[in-house]
Formats: sequence, structure tokens, C-alpha cells
Amino acid sequence: MINLIIQSIKQSVLPQKNIRILKKNKIIKTPISEEYLKADEECNAKAIFELAIYKLKKISPRGKCLDVGCGSGKFLVRLAEEFPEIEFTGIDSSGEMLKLAKKKIDERGFNNVKLKKLNPLKLNRIKEKFDLITCNFFLHNLKSEFQALNFINSLLKLLKKRGVLFFFDMTRPKNNKIALFLADKYNKKFGKEFYEEALNLYRASFSFYELKDILKKTNWKNYEHEQPLIGNFFQFVCTKKQNKKILFRPRLKNFEQKINYYLLKFFWKI
Ligand SMILES: C[S@@+](CC[C@H](N)C(=O)[O-])C[C@H]1O[C@@H](n2cnc3c(N)ncnc32)[C@H](O)[C@@H]1O
Repeated sequence: MINLIIQSIKQSVLPQKNIRILKKNKIIKTPISEEYLKADEECNAKAIFELAIYKLKKISPRGKCLDVGCGSGKFLVRLAEEFPEIEFTGIDSSGEMLKLAKKKIDERGFNNVKLKKLNPLKLNRIKEKFDLITCNFFLHNLKSEFQALNFINSLLKLLKKRGVLFFFDMTRPKNNKIALFLADKYNKKFGKEFYEEALNLYRASFSFYELKDILKKTNWKNYEHEQPLIGNFFQFVCTKKQNKKILFRPRLKNFEQKINYYLLKFFWKI
């Protein structure tokens, strides 16, 4: 019965016609056009970046961080600004994107950020482990749910034992009309190339329920997946904050103290 209700809610939120359309799945190799560069600089997801930083701050990350698919380094730069004590490594498959990231890092004089050209789908080439792994606006590039599942599992393999995995991406709009509305409103002003890229991004993103199903199948057990405010256009996934249990270990010197302690524990539930 409950399954039936969930199924019908899913169907009303996600009509059958609403399928992922992934047009672009190529790595940017050619020099990026002036128009695209300008758009990339001007179009920022500031609100969502700030929300992400706010969430990360609550976890108080430290140590080494890997930013997977760092692109032109927009979020990486924001991370490095906020957490100067963390050692960052940004990886991306596109040398062109990394050039842009390097420029931003050099301009700001960060000395805690390294960049590496590496395809995020070949994470098995990384031998280190990290305390924090971030991966933003990348998942929509993946061809299938199966590829996304394997990708998340490969991110988990690079995490240290108490490491934190954190990522966010767009949530696919309910229908094409909304995708067009968003691209018209937010991306059209930056030119045709960027407009089309953004439209593809909207259509290629996983819906909240698709990602929910993928996450369930991964090896990740302690995550939180949520769709925060701002019209449900984004979804966040993060390792749950560990609630450290404070263990009370009394120093019991003799048998009498032990008896008293366990009697108290039993009757008063201390
Ligand atoms: C939108 S950018 C990431 C932005 C960045 N994480 C941020 O938040 O500022 C996505 C990146 O994924 C890379 N990419 C796109 N498609 C890919 C694919 N099929 N395989 C590997 N990398 C891909 C691109 O080089 C691009 O830099």
C-alpha cells in the first residue's frame, strides 16, 4: 500500500515524458571561446556556493581535500578562501578548464591548492586518500545511472575512514517548459553557446528521485540527501555529521565501588 502511494507521488512529480536528455558528453579540448569564457566568469551560482560552504562549515573539515571535476575552479577557489588550512587538489579532464582555474588561483595567491589533469572517471589512478572529497555540478555529465553509481563508489574508495564526501548538482526541471524558462531567464544573456550548454545541463541532470535510487544502491551508508530551498533546482548529498558518543568510563577502584556503580546504573539508568 505504502509503495503504491510512493509510486503514485513519484509519477505525479515526475511525468513519464520527463527523461534525462544528455546531449553533451565530451571533454572540452578545444580552446574555449571568448563568449563562453566571459559567460563562465559572469554567471555564478553564488547562492548555492554559499549554502554549500555553510553546510561544510558545520562539518568543520580539515586535512586533505580532493575537488573532483573542478572545472574553471569557481567552487574550488571559494573553498580555498574559506578553509585556508586545508590542502586542496583539484582534478579535471579538461586542460582548458584547468588553465582558467590556475589563473584564478595564481591571482589570489593561494599556496594550498594543486591542480592535476585527470579524468574524474579514472579515479583508480589516484593512490592517496582524502579527508574531504567535493564534486559539484559534475554528476549530470554521466551517461547512465549505472555510471553514476560506479562513480560515487569510486569516490568513496578515496575517502579516509572518517572522511566526508560532499556533492551537489542541479535537479532536472519537471518538464522542458521549465528548463527553457530557466535557460531564458538566467543564461540567454550570456550568448547562444552558453545558453545551449545550460539547457543541456538542466535536461541532463538527475531528478531528485533518480539520485535517491542511485544513492541507495551505492556502498555509502551514512549520507544525507536533500533538496534545499531556491525552487528545488539543486540537490545536495553529504556524509552525515557524526554524533560522537561521549563514553562515560568511571574509574572503579574496588569491588564495592563496582557493585554500587552497576546497581545505580541498573536502577537509575545512568
Ligand atoms: C560544470 S564543470 C564543474 C564546475 C566546478 N565543479 C565548480 O563547481 O565550479 C564540469 C566539469 O566536468 C568536466 N567534464 C564534463 N564532461 C565530462 C566527461 N564526460 N568526462 C570527464 N569530465 C567531464 C568538464 O571538463 C568540466 O570542467
